[in-house]
Amino acid sequence: MQPVTANPSEALVGTAPVPGDKSISHRALMIGALAAGQSEIVGLLEGEDVLHTAAAMRVLGAEIEKGADGTWRVWGQGIGGLREPDTVLDMGNSGTGVRLLMGVLASHPLTAVLTGDASLRGRPMGRVAAPLQEMGARILARAGGRLPLTVLGTGEAAPISYKLPVASAQVKSAILLAGLNAPGETSVIEPAPTRDHTERMLRGFGATLETLQEGGGRIVTLSGQPELRGQSLRVPGDPSSAAFPLVAAAILPGSRISLPGVGMNAHRTGLIETLREMGAQIVLETPREEAGEPVADLTIEAGPLSGVEVPAERAPSMIDEYPILAVAAACARGTTVMRGLAELRVKESDRLSAMARGLAACGVEIEEGPDVLTVVGRGGRVPGGASIETALDHRIAMSFLVLGLAAERPVTIDDAAPMETSFPGFAALMRGLGAQMSVGSAGSAAP
Ligand code: S3P
Repeated sequence: MQPVTANPSEALVGTAPVPGDKSISHRALMIGALAAGQSEIVGLLEGEDVLHTAAAMRVLGAEIEKGADGTWRVWGQGIGGLREPDTVLDMGNSGTGVRLLMGVLASHPLTAVLTGDASLRGRPMGRVAAPLQEMGARILARAGGRLPLTVLGTGEAAPISYKLPVASAQVKSAILLAGLNAPGETSVIEPAPTRDHTERMLRGFGATLETLQEGGGRIVTLSGQPELRGQSLRVPGDPSSAAFPLVAAAILPGSRISLPGVGMNAHRTGLIETLREMGAQIVLETPREEAGEPVADLTIEAGPLSGVEVPAERAPSMIDEYPILAVAAACARGTTVMRGLAELRVKESDRLSAMARGLAACGVEIEEGPDVLTVVGRGGRVPGGASIETALDHRIAMSFLVLGLAAERPVTIDDAAPMETSFPGFAALMRGLGAQMSVGSAGSAAP
């Protein structure tokens, strides 16, 4: 375990190019592997989660290579063309990797065993297994639908119409990816719209999908067995990674930073909306499209933030951003109430209780409910001076490092390793903006 300490810091200034989008990177590798011909991917996130997906797709028969120019090339096998893996597929820490891959495997006539690290082995997979079993796959999992599990896929998958019990882009995507190799129409009914990267990318590769708004939700219908053709795409910067320097700049007085090329998919921008409501000065410039996704350059200036009520309906558009929003809330003036957070309990860790515990240890008054977090803002620096267990959760690690910058005393996280899953080079990027972060525990920290 490698501890990292964030020390009280002054203003952040400069440009922060964030790594490629994790959700889109997984999808580019998997859909590229299912297309006919070659795909070229620029800006792929080279975090451990995505590298596990690349390794799995190679074992399944896709040729995947990184060129000297940094471009990733995927030679796809066509829909239904993957081969049976001759080894266990280890998806590391990645819920997206394992759940989307289960969908891909379900409609291939093969047997595959999937596992992951201790965090992933504790997460529920039944929500994905249930619809895939309706389509004809068999899935044998440990108690509670946990990994390791075995997918007995079918070459004769049946298209289904499935109503998601929880709003989850991963479950939606698993069903759509399985539906690629099922004849006829596969529909997913979402209780609330979630990130639509799979739909956008499948369209870009040549599939036909229809989406219909219904009440507060959405119905997505895929026409099965399309001809997917290899594509060239540029992965936008990850808004969920941009969230960390963004909030750091918002809470450190005098800061002004730019984040070029960040994905602005409307189902991912709930944090920006909320920070603006809190009073943050965020400017979006040069809107454009990359990989079928909206992208913009962001600039943020520090300014006083005020507490807000964040409605439950906003959760799908900022589901991964609540830990760092709680940090912004801790430094804001007044109280912030975040509702509709039940899903946070089944992420890489139980993020609701991890944030509540960690903030309390840093001297912030909080209240944790079953799906609510209330944070009483300090209207400036928090006391800090705590050691935080990251429990294999990258977003908990980065959130508390950002909090340490805006604390009176250093905050240490117990392990740097989880940050490699989504944001390689996080500490270096933050140091480049002026953040005081160093390897080691408080006191023992090397510069
Ligand atoms: C993701 C969907 C979300 C999110 C995860 C990435 C995706 O999970 O938390 O980090 O890429 O589809 P859920 O589908 O469980 O909400």
